[in-house]
Amino acid sequence: MSKEIKILAIESSCDETAAAVVVNGRDVRSNIISSQIDLHTVYGGVVPEIASRKHVENINYVIQEALDTASVTLSDIDAVAVTYGPGLVGALLVGVAEAKAISYARKLPLIGVHHIEGHISANYIEHKDLEPPYICLVVSGGHSHLVKVTDYGEYEVLGRTRDDAAGEAFDKVARAIGLGYPGGPKIDKISGKGNPQAITFPRASIAEHPYDFSFSGLKSAVLNYLNQCEMKGESYNQADVAASFQQSVVDVLTEHAMMAMEETGMKKLAIAGGVASNTALRQTMKERCREKEIDFYYPSPILCTDNAAMIGAAGYYEYRKGIRHGLDLNAVPNLKLGER
Ligand code: KG4
Ligand code: ZN
Repeated sequence: MSKEIKILAIESSCDETAAAVVVNGRDVRSNIISSQIDLHTVYGGVVPEIASRKHVENINYVIQEALDTASVTLSDIDAVAVTYGPGLVGALLVGVAEAKAISYARKLPLIGVHHIEGHISANYIEHKDLEPPYICLVVSGGHSHLVKVTDYGEYEVLGRTRDDAAGEAFDKVARAIGLGYPGGPKIDKISGKGNPQAITFPRASIAEHPYDFSFSGLKSAVLNYLNQCEMKGESYNQADVAASFQQSVVDVLTEHAMMAMEETGMKKLAIAGGVASNTALRQTMKERCREKEIDFYYPSPILCTDNAAMIGAAGYYEYRKGIRHGLDLNAVPNLKLGER
């Protein structure tokens, strides 16, 4: 039997300090996440300076807990994988510096992982049968990408957002209707009590780039609707606004994904990223995939939002390809998917 490859993975690109131990890319032995959400909630969004400071305070504890939970020590680890972009530069640097220190001290291979590649790879953890090629819709707080995964670690970006990311739109609309941060889970919850057909919000498409997304017009339409209600002295139904906004996002994401399935002839579709935990999106995608006899893959909610297990999964496939980074690895805040 071939040797098990145990990867210690570190993620600190935004407001979660996370570490995990993952064996052969799919077997998660520990997945520790220290969330800073409560700290940032009072400011209505992530404050980069606070995020970096908290990562520095937490990272050693989180790594130790990940090792302890997996019942291993650094002597058992074969490689260190770390998110090096995209994300907040000060936040990324904490994880990158830590990973470099461990790699240097323990003479372990260092693998820099693209954060989006991590999100996509979260699907490998619970779906042992999933293998490329497939289409993946990655929708998070910072990114909206429609990607053709041609092989492990090989991507063809079919479409991306032109302005706001899907999760960003959720967060901004939630703030506008008084739900607070983080908006996605709150809109998801309250939408269950609202009528998604109550208000017709736009579903944007870009004629010459049909796979691209644009959510800023939708966000403005919601803000205009709220302003109009205010000017007329009328109150609005929070749940109806949330549900109608969410329906518009879900329709656009589903239509784009289905168009990609049709045009590429692929029969496997995965979703990933924080917004992939949205109840309505999962349900709609599931139904459309069933109708079209497409195999649909989605991670558990804890693996959709930022975590290090997904970085361990992606890191393993990079490791297998022989990808290694040197101690000059730096944080790259605007790293493009497919770049190394
Ligand atoms: O992937 P993630 O944890 O971080 C980034 O890489 O950006 O995604 C966070 C985003 C936030 O915008 C959050 O509001 C959104 O994912 N989100 C959701 C849900 N849960 C998290 N959006 C819609 N419905 C949800 N249930
Ligand atoms: Zn993320």
